[in-house]
Amino acid sequence: MSILQRRKDEHLQICLEQDVESGVSPGLSGYRLEYDALPEIDLDDVDLSIELLGKKLSAPILIGSMTGGSEQAEILNHRLAKVAAKLGLGMALGSQRAMLKHPETTASFAVRKTSPELPLLIGNIGAVQLNYGVTHDDLRHLVESVQADALYFHLNPLQEAIQPEGDTRFRGLLSKIQLATKTLPFPCLIKEVGAGISAKTAQKMAHLPIAAIEASGVGGTSWARVEGYRAQPASNTAQLGERLRDFGTPTAEAIQHCRNAFPKRPVIGSGGIRTGQDIAIAIALGSDATAIARPALEAAAISEAALERFLTTLLHELRVLCFCTGASNIKELQQVKVVRRHKST
Ligand SMILES: Cc1cc2nc3c(=O)[nH]c(=O)nc-3n(C[C@H](O)[C@H](O)[C@H](O)COP(=O)(O)O)c2cc1C
Repeated sequence: MSILQRRKDEHLQICLEQDVESGVSPGLSGYRLEYDALPEIDLDDVDLSIELLGKKLSAPILIGSMTGGSEQAEILNHRLAKVAAKLGLGMALGSQRAMLKHPETTASFAVRKTSPELPLLIGNIGAVQLNYGVTHDDLRHLVESVQADALYFHLNPLQEAIQPEGDTRFRGLLSKIQLATKTLPFPCLIKEVGAGISAKTAQKMAHLPIAAIEASGVGGTSWARVEGYRAQPASNTAQLGERLRDFGTPTAEAIQHCRNAFPKRPVIGSGGIRTGQDIAIAIALGSDATAIARPALEAAAISEAALERFLTTLLHELRVLCFCTGASNIKELQQVKVVRRHKST
């Protein structure tokens, strides 16, 4: 097993067995949606469907970028895809870097083979790999060989800096991302991995020809913490992971920064999305869709049925919240007033 494959399995195991939450709130519970006791619509009228990157989803939810590249990842990815396809949701793959070094891992990412009706599939690679020799041809190969519709570039300087073997040469990356996103023949998106897109980062990227941006703020899975668990207990790395687990931009803020910098392009709210109410608030704060990572993995690790139950409950909660705010669809939910909670409410 290669280093990349071993690391992928360690990440999966740590995310499934340890407490890897950032320890701070994503900030979504600091808001409430304005309740409408006279909504003037029927619950049955609520339409959760959206269009994202030209594809129709039954609800504003993607399974977040997570995995691929090992045997365990293959089982989980195909389960995630089957349920996403059944429910009409989108799905993103985990970093496909392993595919470049180990082509035999392609099957673990090629979920369209088992779930051809998946409405939206997005590939994934660390943007920093553009500084480590990954070419545009490589990126085209990653997308085409799994029949993905688009490609995420993830930004993860905090994770790479804590990971002992991390790729930390970020100098000059913006112009390389610009060239790649301009040249590649499919839509490109940018995301963080749970430390959030700040106002500064969003502004730096506003001119890029990207199709959408994912906030991935602090408040859910902490990759500082995950990397800390991979290190020897009490080592410097382990301590650093714990100390920096809440560093970054909380999700509620990151969504608003992305919305401000990208007023006309889709914003995907993510990082600590755990409930239907989190989804609804993320949307009312400016997201067009949301992505859920670790809770979906945890459910998929149990079974397809557990994942379907988890997602169906979220969808029902979201539908009830639309109804009770008078929003008959997601566009109307975006217009619902969000009120900052006082400490006691
Ligand atoms: C097991 C696991 C693996 C992940 N791997 C990737 C990855 O390869 N690429 C990526 O962009 N994000 C990756 N992420 C980050 C998620 O896409 C997401 O941004 C982050 O976990 C915050 O969302 P959450 O709180 O819902 O988990 C991973 C998350 C998990 C839980």
